[in-house]
Amino acid sequence: MRKIVVTGGAGFIGSNFVHYVYKERPDWHITVYDALTYAGNKENLKGFDENRFSFVEANICDEQAIDEAVSNCDAVVHFAAESHNDNSLANPWPFVETNVVGTFRILEATRKHNKRLHHISTDEVYGDLELNDPNKFKETTAYNPSSPYSSTKAGSDMLVRAWARSFGVKATISNCSNNYGPYQHVEKFIPRQITEILQGRKPKLYGSGENVRDWIHTEDHSSAVLAILEKGTMGETYMIGANGEKNNKEVVELILELMGKDSSDYEHVNDRPGHDLRYAIDSTKLRTELGWEPKYTDFRAGLKDTIDWYKNNRSWWEPQKVVTEEKYKKLGR
Ligand code: NAD
Ligand code: TYD
Repeated sequence: MRKIVVTGGAGFIGSNFVHYVYKERPDWHITVYDALTYAGNKENLKGFDENRFSFVEANICDEQAIDEAVSNCDAVVHFAAESHNDNSLANPWPFVETNVVGTFRILEATRKHNKRLHHISTDEVYGDLELNDPNKFKETTAYNPSSPYSSTKAGSDMLVRAWARSFGVKATISNCSNNYGPYQHVEKFIPRQITEILQGRKPKLYGSGENVRDWIHTEDHSSAVLAILEKGTMGETYMIGANGEKNNKEVVELILELMGKDSSDYEHVNDRPGHDLRYAIDSTKLRTELGWEPKYTDFRAGLKDTIDWYKNNRSWWEPQKVVTEEKYKKLGR
């Protein structure tokens, strides 16, 4: 049996990864290591056999706790992070602490105990692209982050690269594009719009809505991470993306249409300072070297399933919705 520790496994992408691995690798044991911040929820981790699953409530910045968890496993898959750009603009410190110092703690523990590490990162470390730029982000694109969120993720990637090269830590990194799917916090774009409509209000578009994101279903992110964990080359970085570029206006219009509303029934709100214009991923290396392919290539179908999930799980998101909208109201967003 292979034992993995999944940091941030009670959050959106981490919990989807835990469900995926639990199903795909029945002989593995999974320990979720999570501090249960506002973004973590144990409800995301129901239905597991206790012989194959355990939960540690602790912070990745806690040197002793992370050392102990890492010493008892074969590999660490590191999702834990402060993950929302708007929050990073309001209060950057938790981003520096968790994303930079927390990743440092994990690197020191994996170095000490000689364990395999896969570090989860984002395409946002590369900055943004012009709308007509034919060059998408690649593993060799220069880092150029814009926000406290993306700069602290960039810092964490740099630490991983240095620990792999200087200390021989057996690490890989992946930089993925925007995820959508079940269990995503309502502060994020797609769940916010779905839940605004479900509560009888209009979707909220930042600025003109021309900003482009490269959407990937979270289960495709999970299958890519598993492929890299099992077959990736140590010290290497892999871009994860599924050719899902759409501008925000198109996405809002599609959500409205799928929910039986007039597709023009949204409002424009204050733009985000420093708002990145476009992200786009070239995932050729992952596809050719590791044979990975996404399954959810029909965005409309994936979005419809996601809308149904939020319709059917109101008790999961309603408590977080009130607090989130209070924060947005203060920002005029
Ligand atoms: P999330 O905010 O939904 O979940 C983060 C999880 O980490 C939560 O369970 C939280 O409790 C936990 N956590 C936060 N700080 C912690 C700490 N100090 N110690 C222990 N646990 C802590 O985030 P997400 O959207 O699932 O993102 C997961 C990872 O994927 C992040 O590293 C993020 O940068 C990366 N990523 C996200 C996206 C996206 O579209 N959301 C895209 C690419 C990469
Ligand atoms: P978000 O989900 O915050 O992800 P990221 O900033 O990491 O890409 O936002 C996705 C896009 O949607 C981004 O261009 C900002 C925009 N956006 C809105 O237009 N309205 C909203 O209410 C939110 C939360 C985001």
